[in-house]
Amino acid sequence: MIKNFIEACIFDLDGVVVDTAKYHFIAWKALAEELGFEFTHEDNERLKGVSRMASLEILLEIGGLQFPEREKLAMAEKKNTLYVSYIEKMTPQEILPGVPEFLQELKNNRIKIALGSASKNAPMILDRIQLTEMFDAVVDGNSITEAKPNPEVFLKGAERLGVLPENCVVFEDAIAGVEAARNAGMRCIGIGDPETLGFADLVIPGFDGFTLEKLKTPL
Ligand code: BG6
Ligand code: MG
Repeated sequence: MIKNFIEACIFDLDGVVVDTAKYHFIAWKALAEELGFEFTHEDNERLKGVSRMASLEILLEIGGLQFPEREKLAMAEKKNTLYVSYIEKMTPQEILPGVPEFLQELKNNRIKIALGSASKNAPMILDRIQLTEMFDAVVDGNSITEAKPNPEVFLKGAERLGVLPENCVVFEDAIAGVEAARNAGMRCIGIGDPETLGFADLVIPGFDGFTLEKLKTPL
């Protein structure tokens, strides 16, 4: 393998391309309040990168509550309805700084681009922020059966692009996501705090001022 050879980049969505954590927070908090307990920003950190139903399990654990499966499905549905009412109104202004420029640089250099997200709402978000056509492949919560840190979402992305895992670089903000990239045999750039994501190949605060050259040097 050529160390700096990059054929494709695979992006997580929530926390990497857009900051949807704030909308997830509002919606989960509303559910918690309805159930009679407090849900904090700190609690919300635990839900990053975690699937909808697994997030609900964590929320109920925080509240010390248990419910039968049927009621849990109804709760997840209710949370999602509120969440969707927020993301429906998203605009391209909510794309995180530097993301469009970096995607364009990848395109100019013929590097393929995929989305690898746990969210079932990913297609709607991409549509609202008008980024759908930048992606050569979209793998989201509707097309996977295993949650991160299982590598399925990223391996499917590579397969759809027709690229070998070792020639892909993943961009992730969640610990489970960085682990999923590792498990897929891909290099990974953490977006966020080096203290949390230190086991990624490189950690950057965001895409503002980030270039392909900066990506290639440390890998
Ligand atoms: C991930 C988010 O991208 O998607 C999680 O980081 C979220 O917080 C998960 O729970 C599932 O999202 P959705 O939109 O399918 O409920
Ligand atoms: Mg994320």
